[in-house]
Amino acid sequence: MGIFRARCADCHGIDARGIRGPDITRVWAEGRTDGGLFQTLRNGVPNTEMPSVGARTPDVEVWQILAYVRTLAAPAPNDPPRGNAQNGERIFRANCASCHQVNGKGGRLGPDLSRIGAARARDALVNQIVGAVEGSRLGYEPVTVTPQEGQPIHGVKKNEDLFSVQIMDTRERIQGYEKEKMKAVADDKKSAMPAFGPDRLSQSDLDDVVRYLQGLRGFDPAVRQ
Ligand code: HEC
Ligand code: HEC
Repeated sequence: MGIFRARCADCHGIDARGIRGPDITRVWAEGRTDGGLFQTLRNGVPNTEMPSVGARTPDVEVWQILAYVRTLAAPAPNDPPRGNAQNGERIFRANCASCHQVNGKGGRLGPDLSRIGAARARDALVNQIVGAVEGSRLGYEPVTVTPQEGQPIHGVKKNEDLFSVQIMDTRERIQGYEKEKMKAVADDKKSAMPAFGPDRLSQSDLDDVVRYLQGLRGFDPAVRQ
């Protein structure tokens, strides 16, 4: 429990039901084996945010973490699936795909969502969609660059150092600016992702789009390396 709370709970939650990372209380019910999970912890999941426990963590501690997670394991889904994925896909195409790629198609202002179903707990998806998340994902922080002349340029920050900033603007053009030559470079408070509150997405449409996202598995990192 001590190691889990210190090293896993930030992402998976103190109850292992997921925050930024997925719910891991159902991995056994879904058919994962102890040996397979041991490898997942040892190696992490390549090309995702799931880190390896690191070479310095002895095998016995990896087993201790798993033994603790097993005490939190749930036999059946905590949250029975609701929503209609097919309708969700339609809603996604109409409202979201202009900024998000899924399996190689869509816009690039927001992060690729091809694997978001494996990577996030349901609540995290809902909160992001309705605009209840504070702070932005690295590489997607909202920024406005105002040149000496002309209109301010809105976008997301791809890189920054003391002297320059590189942004992707809302038309997906990537451009670097020397801060000194600009009138202003300001971090915005509001995420570049519009909030889809009840005025824009009904509860049932929200359930549908979340159901669609939950089904996405994108690439298989085990194969892809
Ligand atoms: C920085 C965030 C982060 C930390 C820290 C983290 N994880 Fe993860 N974990 C994730 C993400 C994201 C995934 C989903 C990866 C994917 O498949 O796309 C994941 C996946 C997993 C899976 C696989 C779930 C499945 O369905 O196969 C297990 C098991 C797991 N984590 C356990 C742990 C344990 C135990 C720890 C602590 C030793 C830990 N994680 C630390 C983010 C994290
Ligand atoms: C105008 C562009 C835009 C539109 C339209 C848009 N998004 Fe986003 N989305 C973003 C950006 C930019 C981010 C990163 C935001 C941040 O971290 O501040 C993001 C983040 C997300 C995330 C979190 C990803 C992660 O890695 O945790 C999810 C989930 C998401 N969007 C879903 C949706 C859904 C569903 C819709 C449609 C209902 C949608 N978005 C519409 C731009 C957009």
